[in-house]
Amino acid sequence: MTNTTDKDRVLIFDTTLRDGEQSPGATMTHTEKLEIAGLLDDMGVDIIEAGFPIASEGDFNAVAAISKNATNAVICGLARANLGDIDRCWEAVKHAAKPRIHTFIGTSPLHRAIPNLTMDEMAERIEQTVSHARNLCDNIQWSPMDATRTEWDYLCRTIEIAIKAGATTINIPDTVGYTAPVESADLIRRLIETVPGADEVVFATHCHNDLGMATANALAAVAGGARQIECTINGLGERAGNTALEEVVMALKVRGDIMPWSTGIDTTKIMAISHRVATVSGFPVQFNKAIVGKNAFAHESGIHQDGMLKNAETFEIMRPTDVGLSETNLVMGKHSGRAALRSKLSDLGFDLGDNQLRDVFVRFKELADRKKEIFDDDLIALMRVGEDPENDRLKIVSLRVVCGTHGPQQADLTLDIDGTEHSTTQTGDGPVDATFNAVNALFAHDAHLQLYQVHAVTEGTDAQATVSVRMEEDGRIVTGQSADTDTVVASAKAYVHALNRLLVRREKSAPGTDTREINYKDVS
Ligand code: KIV
Ligand code: ZN
Repeated sequence: MTNTTDKDRVLIFDTTLRDGEQSPGATMTHTEKLEIAGLLDDMGVDIIEAGFPIASEGDFNAVAAISKNATNAVICGLARANLGDIDRCWEAVKHAAKPRIHTFIGTSPLHRAIPNLTMDEMAERIEQTVSHARNLCDNIQWSPMDATRTEWDYLCRTIEIAIKAGATTINIPDTVGYTAPVESADLIRRLIETVPGADEVVFATHCHNDLGMATANALAAVAGGARQIECTINGLGERAGNTALEEVVMALKVRGDIMPWSTGIDTTKIMAISHRVATVSGFPVQFNKAIVGKNAFAHESGIHQDGMLKNAETFEIMRPTDVGLSETNLVMGKHSGRAALRSKLSDLGFDLGDNQLRDVFVRFKELADRKKEIFDDDLIALMRVGEDPENDRLKIVSLRVVCGTHGPQQADLTLDIDGTEHSTTQTGDGPVDATFNAVNALFAHDAHLQLYQVHAVTEGTDAQATVSVRMEEDGRIVTGQSADTDTVVASAKAYVHALNRLLVRREKSAPGTDTREINYKDVS
């Protein structure tokens, strides 16, 4: 877009690390959160909601560390409407060059019933908490949770109070994904017209995707006057997720003719961050997902391929390179060297230090010995950023699986546990079950397997399989990922990866400190 003025600029508020991470099973480690925040900052996100500092020591430390590291973005922390939450939030975000406190309370009849406050009591609470936050920080966002199901008069009243108490951004959440585009636009427009002081603040839109309308609702809200979109990478978030950052940003870029608003996002960084969020959260992207799905730019049918060869615009409204996909996906083979690997990984969004590159290069050479052609997706699957496999307490030494047409299947496994090798042979209902039984026989634990997922990274029978597992023990949720041309080996490695992470979590946190154990609707 050219000739844009401030009123045409839409701020992108990313909440992958708060609303996204809050979705059950999407837990990220401290290092992963820092890495994702770095990528968000780098791609031009205006505001990063880095977490919910009161929720756990881990959340607090992550928000504080992200605040210290951020170079461009405003760093925001979430706080319920009580002084303790707000103070804790400020302690975490105050390190940022540009800090923001985001405080909220549920204003709809159903949400008011939870803390059991009358309308007047809640109004008083809003005045008190927003003023308190404003005394700490100049940049305050206030949200009436479940705004789209709040009585009109009461919604206007609470927003007016929050603005008078010092809020600088008013966010209108469609917490349960109930609203529709016409209502979304109308609600924001009427609020801006009605509430005294509305023209002094930025209105934001925060849409959940329960009816699949989050992107449409967010764009409609912008048409109604909102100038901040709250969103997550890959649409990660509670239940059906949030508005997907890549969708709103690309919609504004491609359809500038009817939506003349711009963002500050470098869209060529979209694919790399999408891959990283999918990997670290353990939530894969559906193949036909808009913008970042594996098939979003694939043209299979003859008629499409023919049209594409003659003129790419026949079937493409944006170029793959606009979102950071390289024109050619075929990259390297066994003769490629370390410098080529570094440069290719950098194109894919991974800037590695020498030690990390050394480890990845070893894995790359192992893969290249087994697989003739190595594609971008193969390289992405090799990445395990921020963790040093050398420090793992459990390591697979060898695995041999015997499969027959009639089970049970058998796994012979040797594990190195804290430096000592242990072996066992176990059977199971299929090779993966036998392998997991063998791991459990050597390393007893009470963790419960919540999710086991396999995906082929590329085409062909020598394709790598990426496996994600999610495990839970005493409220701690961990994910493990791995990739290998052998699905059973990838499964074993992912399972052991998750157990290694669980051991780290056991050492670092007591049970009951997980983010998801806090009731974020409780304002007391
Ligand atoms: O969906 C929601 O209402 C929220 C609030 C905390 C803003 O995430
Ligand atoms: Zn939300």
